[in-house]
Amino acid sequence: MTNEKPGLRESNLFNRDVIHDIQTAAETGLYEIRGFGAKRPLPHFDDLLFLGASMSRYPLEGYRERCDTNVTLGNRYAESPIDISIPITIAGMSFGSLSANAKEALGRGASQLGTCTTTGDGGMTEEERRHSQKLVYQYLPSRYGMNPDDIRKADAIEVVIGQGAKPGGGGVLLGQKITERVAEMRTLPGDIDQRSACRHPDWTGPDDLAIKITELREITDWKVPIFIKIGAARPYYDTTLAVKAGADVVVLDGMQGGTAATQSVFIEHVGIPTMAAVPQAVEALQEMDMHREVQLIVSGGIRSGADVAKCLALGADAVSIGTAALIALGCNHPKWQTDYENIGSSAGFYDSYHEGRDPAGISTQDEELSARLDPVSGGQRLANFLGVLTLETQTLARASGKSHVLNLEPEDLVALTVEAAAMARVPLAGTNWIPGRGAHV
Ligand SMILES: Cc1cc2nc3c(=O)[nH]c(=O)nc-3n(C[C@H](O)[C@H](O)[C@H](O)COP(=O)(O)O)c2cc1C
Repeated sequence: MTNEKPGLRESNLFNRDVIHDIQTAAETGLYEIRGFGAKRPLPHFDDLLFLGASMSRYPLEGYRERCDTNVTLGNRYAESPIDISIPITIAGMSFGSLSANAKEALGRGASQLGTCTTTGDGGMTEEERRHSQKLVYQYLPSRYGMNPDDIRKADAIEVVIGQGAKPGGGGVLLGQKITERVAEMRTLPGDIDQRSACRHPDWTGPDDLAIKITELREITDWKVPIFIKIGAARPYYDTTLAVKAGADVVVLDGMQGGTAATQSVFIEHVGIPTMAAVPQAVEALQEMDMHREVQLIVSGGIRSGADVAKCLALGADAVSIGTAALIALGCNHPKWQTDYENIGSSAGFYDSYHEGRDPAGISTQDEELSARLDPVSGGQRLANFLGVLTLETQTLARASGKSHVLNLEPEDLVALTVEAAAMARVPLAGTNWIPGRGAHV
């Protein structure tokens, strides 16, 4: 802890952030709501390393030997699965939390790289459908913006059970973001805070969910894949139940997953880290002989090609990004520093997505602010970022001797900490020891 003056000692337990939180709660009687994912240090993919090839493994030549990146999503039951060119998709983010320009930019960027983007709570906007080559339609507990015509326009349906930032919780959209258009799409009054439900209204368990999925397949003539999105709580059981209910694809969102507006206490204290969740979901798929039959998309704190490659090596078929995509569009960009300061924040710290005052024009419905984000150049920035993530993933796959990024495997990884070794189920670096498994020689 840094001291203001020598001799002054800050408490680790009651540090200045904790004191600020207590005093704010005492003064306002309100709990904190914010966007972004968990901010405290958690075990993450940085705690893993690739071994790379040397004598016992042969690397591939970067400039001459191919390393493919294409993935097919949803070929279990659907007549038209989604083929994506890169193993990275754009996560579901609601119109309402995001501006229409931001949704369009996400569609443009994803389409340039041949991947899919996803709607969110509040329904499908015409702009995002037009500019997304492949669009996944979310079917959420709130049913805000749910429209059977839009279901039929989608390339896949994602039944949302939960989010990593808040497994077991619903959403909030504050009144200041409920413009006429947002209200109309949600068939709710404007300017009034909206809470999204945490449970679907018409099914309570996996048996009912199987019926719901059949209903969705019938609406779409069994053409498009059905994804099930779960927040990482008990991923072994939840993945098993999702597959049993008939999912073509399981989307697993870890604790570091971003959100538009959730109670801080939820973001920081509920769910399990993404890295810990992946092996449990993969184990469930393997035990059912469904690994690679039902695809696993993992999200929650993916920032770089290293994160993508590590996720794939642990057994995911693809990853999904939310926060990183918004940052690529320009969220938290230093060029808006003065504006951030005017609303009590700073570039690099801005997380008040719920307030609708985003200087970068992304998490807002204010017309003047939204106009700051040009969907064409924003889309290009996202496309550039997705391109870099893919190149980085390929670099690590080639260095591990793999001609397809999906050939990455846990054997390519080691862990830097005992905790990461236990969670990711890979050996501690420099040893053959996977905690809980004993030594393999
Ligand atoms: C602004 C914003 C809005 C979101 N809206 C939704 C939503 O409507 N439905 C949903 O399932 N998840 C929503 N999420 C969560 C994302 O789909 C995804 O699970 C999460 O962002 C992944 O973690 P990452 O942000 O670290 O990449 C939202 C996230 C953000 C940042």
